[in-house]
Amino acid sequence: MHGDETVGREILLHLIDFLVTSYGHDPVITRLLNNTRIHIMPTMNPDGFEATKVPDCYYTRGRYNKNGEDLNRNFPDAFEKNNASIQPETQAVMNWIKNETFVLSANLHGGALVASYTFDNGNSVTISSKGYSRSPDDDVFIHLAKTYSSNHASMYKGTGCDNRQSFPEGITNGYSWYQLEGGMQDYNYVWGQCFEITLELSCCKYPPADQLEKFWRDNKVALIEYIKQVHLGVKGQVMDRNGNPIPNAIVEAKGRPHVCPYRTNEHGEYFLLLLPGTYVINATVPGYKSILKTVEITDNTSNFSALKQDFSFSEVSIRSRAASCPKTPLYQQLGRASAAVKPTLHILVLMTVVLAIFK
Ligand SMILES: *[C@@H]1O[C@H](CO)[C@@H](O)[C@H](O)[C@H]1NC(C)=O
Ligand SMILES: *[C@@H]1O[C@H](CO)[C@@H](O)[C@H](O)[C@H]1NC(C)=O
Ligand SMILES: *[C@@H]1O[C@H](CO)[C@@H](O)[C@H](O)[C@H]1NC(C)=O
Ligand SMILES: *[C@@H]1O[C@H](CO)[C@@H](O)[C@H](O)[C@H]1NC(C)=O
Ligand SMILES: *[C@@H]1O[C@H](CO)[C@@H](O)[C@H](O)[C@H]1NC(C)=O
Ligand SMILES: *[C@@H]1O[C@H](CO)[C@@H](O)[C@H](O)[C@H]1NC(C)=O
Ligand SMILES: [Zn+2]
Repeated sequence: MHGDETVGREILLHLIDFLVTSYGHDPVITRLLNNTRIHIMPTMNPDGFEATKVPDCYYTRGRYNKNGEDLNRNFPDAFEKNNASIQPETQAVMNWIKNETFVLSANLHGGALVASYTFDNGNSVTISSKGYSRSPDDDVFIHLAKTYSSNHASMYKGTGCDNRQSFPEGITNGYSWYQLEGGMQDYNYVWGQCFEITLELSCCKYPPADQLEKFWRDNKVALIEYIKQVHLGVKGQVMDRNGNPIPNAIVEAKGRPHVCPYRTNEHGEYFLLLLPGTYVINATVPGYKSILKTVEITDNTSNFSALKQDFSFSEVSIRSRAASCPKTPLYQQLGRASAAVKPTLHILVLMTVVLAIFK
């Protein structure tokens, strides 16, 4: 995402090579690719990379795009109005997210060694007294982040970089680390119906070329195990009596509503990442009686398939209106005392320093 954080783009090129050359040879990769749609974008900020001429472990202006904007502060924010003007790179990614049914993703960075998960921002609705901004899917996010860190060569040790901050088990809630607004991870979760985590892959943002092979080896298993997690939980189709798919139907697990309810895609398909357990899944077409089904979810990721559970409405040709979720601070309407969570000037300054060091 940041042009001067170069390890991620190299690792993704290795990943593409590994996937296409293993297909038909490695049984696990063959089954993974037979059952999974994988999209890989090795760089979101090519201009920033071009502007970063030499290896440099610390922050450079290659972090920003040609217009000097930080792309990971450039997305609509669920908690406060983002005043930054949306950049072409960001708009292209937003179009891509809207156009596809992404379910699980990661965005890659350097400058630290940790798997960080949503929320990056927060308000009185989500922030606990411990300064942790919790999403309704916190358990799933912790599992996803741990899947990455525990399969990485050293991230799980949580020792951090040099004498900087350490992270137990190599994971952290984004807001607990430091608050940011306009990040892609929160955007994907709130508006993209996609669970995304942020992977910080190297203490040095732009290491020398001869270290790249080792970074790939350190991340290879973690990347594959992470991709498998897209098959966590439950998936299916919502149909009418004649078996025609119903797009835009709301499908959510009871007790974990999303601020903008997750809806079926154009094929009537839904995907909900959930840990093993018993859940009530609620399929709703506004104006009709909801269908509730109790499901017993097991970990079927090694079979490359979530549990399948379809929903059939007894009516025909019923429609669910395409309710576009407004790109406004959705949580602001739910929050009351948002002033209480504004960081003090002191903390703000500290955060700016941390920011300059890490990301
Ligand atoms: C993968 O899919 C191909 C094409 O459908 C099929 O021939 C092959 O047997 C599948 N391999 C595995 C391991 O499932
Ligand atoms: C955006 O602008 C409004 C109005 O000037 C201001 O109140 C708000 O704090 C700004 N938001 C951010 C995130 O800076
Ligand atoms: C949207 O998806 C269609 C069909 O897969 C594809 O042709 C088109 O290029 C996509 N557009 C974007 C912005 O990703
Ligand atoms: C099912 O979901 C709909 C839409 O979100 C909601 O209005 C309704 O209260 C839910 N029903 C139950 C029993 O939770
Ligand atoms: C994988 O699927 C098969 C049936 O297709 C089932 O027997 C087996 O228990 C599944 N494995 C796991 C780990 O759930
Ligand atoms: C696990 O996945 C297999 C597909 O390989 C599927 O046949 C089976 O129904 C799934 N089992 C559960 C419990 O989700
Ligand atoms: Zn970064």
